[in-house]
Amino acid sequence: MKITLTGSLGNITKPLAEILIRAGHEVTVISSNADKKTAIEALGAKASIGSIADIPFLTNSFKGADAVYTMVPYNFGAENYRQYVAGIGSNYAKAIKASGVKRVANLSSIGAHLENGTGPITGLHDVEQILNQLDNVAVKHIRPAIFYINFFFDIALIKGQNIMGNNYGKEKRLVMVHPKDIATVVASELQQSFTGKSYCYVVSEERCISDIVKILGSAIGKPELAWVQFTNEQTFAGMTMSGIMPPTIANLYVELGTAIDKGILWEDYDKNKPVKLGNTKLVDFAKEFATVYNN
Ligand SMILES: NC(=O)c1ccc[n+]([C@@H]2O[C@H](COP(=O)([O-])OP(=O)(O)OC[C@H]3O[C@@H](n4cnc5c(N)ncnc54)[C@H](OP(=O)(O)O)[C@@H]3O)[C@@H](O)[C@H]2O)c1
Repeated sequence: MKITLTGSLGNITKPLAEILIRAGHEVTVISSNADKKTAIEALGAKASIGSIADIPFLTNSFKGADAVYTMVPYNFGAENYRQYVAGIGSNYAKAIKASGVKRVANLSSIGAHLENGTGPITGLHDVEQILNQLDNVAVKHIRPAIFYINFFFDIALIKGQNIMGNNYGKEKRLVMVHPKDIATVVASELQQSFTGKSYCYVVSEERCISDIVKILGSAIGKPELAWVQFTNEQTFAGMTMSGIMPPTIANLYVELGTAIDKGILWEDYDKNKPVKLGNTKLVDFAKEFATVYNN
């Protein structure tokens, strides 16, 4: 099959391209950075260099593909994040229509069933609605759980204050996934002949926060590591302190934390759990975490 992937050599797209190439498919990888061309070609894929903001470029990259993988990269510089995400979704819809692609695996998120109240995920809800409007195109929305790799953002807090924390309590549940496990599911979906519009969840493991802290803490030689539930104001202040995260984005993540605290993020997942969980468990990720922590 001819398959075009957005997401460059990112966390999901790189392992996804590797799986598809090993399976004998002709893969094109879209990147906005011409410097990535050599690395993309080294995988055995064709590089298509340009921006997903450019509809004619996207149309050209999708033309002739039997299936495409769409994802919306982070852009914390966007003035209105929800509008940015939905805008990229709309670009994808236009390019899919113009290029005649008939099968799409779209990266969405757990919580995308909700229209509001999920911070950065609301835009992905919109993208699902936009792609669902496409006539005669099969679309599978892949709704992954919270990525384990988000824990890398806690390293500064652990090193600085010997704690982990957020605006949800340590007795709460987190539904998590490894990007490699997402790549496995996306690869399998792209190679299947699904029809209509549907979605599926990708999850590697569910754990309560206190278990997570114990596992990650033990992996870095800090079995006594504690979790602190911050107020929304403290969470916002912590995120914006370094000046890297804009206030508008920090507000979205405070809202996402509240959705985790209330449990609403998992509501639809709980009713539609996948038959099989991903292979990469938190204890496996803890080794990666320790390597990053120690470097
Ligand atoms: N973190 C979570 O817990 C979570 C949970 C659910 C869903 N998600 C979704 O997962 C996504 C991240 O997936 P990922 O980790 O695989 O991505 P990633 O590693 O962040 O890679 C995305 C790549 O897209 C490319 N890109 C950025 N802007 C572009 C543009 N204008 N045109 C073309 N390419 C562009 C960049 O590579 P180049 O520089 O080479 O262009 C970037 O490395 C999020 O955006 C979110 O939608 C995340």
